[in-house]
Amino acid sequence: EAAEKGGFDTYMLKEIYEQPQALTNTLIGRLHDDTGEVNLDINLDPASFKRISIIACGTAFYAGLVGEYLIEQLARIPVEVDVASEYRYRSPLVSENTLAIVISQSGETIDTLEALREAKKQGAKTLGVINAKGSSMTREVDDVLYIHAGPEIGVASTKAYTAMVSGMLMLALWLGRARGTLNEELGRELLQGARELPRLVEECLQPERVENIQRIAQKYHQARDYLFLGRGVNSPTAFEGALKLKEISYIHAEAYAAGEMKHGPIALIDEHLPVVVIATESFLLEKTISNIQEVKARSGKVIAVVSDGDTDAARHADDVIYVPRAAEMVSPVVNAVAMQLLAYFTATALNRDVDKPRNLAKSVTVE
Ligand code: G6P
Repeated sequence: EAAEKGGFDTYMLKEIYEQPQALTNTLIGRLHDDTGEVNLDINLDPASFKRISIIACGTAFYAGLVGEYLIEQLARIPVEVDVASEYRYRSPLVSENTLAIVISQSGETIDTLEALREAKKQGAKTLGVINAKGSSMTREVDDVLYIHAGPEIGVASTKAYTAMVSGMLMLALWLGRARGTLNEELGRELLQGARELPRLVEECLQPERVENIQRIAQKYHQARDYLFLGRGVNSPTAFEGALKLKEISYIHAEAYAAGEMKHGPIALIDEHLPVVVIATESFLLEKTISNIQEVKARSGKVIAVVSDGDTDAARHADDVIYVPRAAEMVSPVVNAVAMQLLAYFTATALNRDVDKPRNLAKSVTVE
């Protein structure tokens, strides 16, 4: 087993560090700088869809939420995202113009598989964004976009998540291009941004950045609760950050879209509550900085995740996690790595078994 962990203490840490390679494998051969083309080898007609349903569980569901932002923005198709266990039982509206996208690392999660069957039965076209080759879902969907993250052993998903989000970004670019809704300049910029992801994630894993996150994790590891806030395409990053933390550290964590803070979670804020705020480059950064000030005014402890070179958001925070600058629409991949490391070092400071957290299974194949 030690050999399989390749010198790392845990599979999870190994998989966190595998992300630059995993993302290279996700992206390779699919994005073409010279022509701006996105080649995903999907045999479905992108012009035929009037709505998209994204269906998934757990971490994959949050990748779906990022996908919703990206697809609606770049391809201008209405998207809804469901947790699979709800989709199955809520009589969803489906027609032959619906594209149902299931996202799954294992391709075996029973709720997602059954939701896929339901969507198919009702006439949707189906696409899987899947990691495990030859898994049940891959055999039942009309087409597959493999994310090629490689085997993931740690129960808490890391490289599969960032690969799924990258997959959704490519899908949004493909749909946007094929439907003519994506302006050429933005298309090229995002394509370039996507191609830089392996390098940006590599930068996130530089020792001084990792040590800084470890220090912050240790500082707050005795907190009873944590709050995570993010906006727009990074509100799912906040959800994923909270999920990662509770899965492996057992600290209670909640996440909210930052603008929603005033409608409830603000009541929880006191000097004992660490609040992780995703405050990387965004057209809404000013509003997020206001949220940081609101947390500070109530004595909360702010851990801000900011882009390199930022001084605005960082100025108001108790602790700062710097991440490499990235275009907002590709930043969820970069920011997720910071979330993983924060959860990881919190859990190890608490001596948790990060690879096998209590009560959780890597793949849930019974309802
Ligand atoms: C389990 C795992 C999660 C995972 C979810 C969905 O709950 O513990 O890490 O996100 O299943 O799994 P899938 O294989 O469908 O992505």
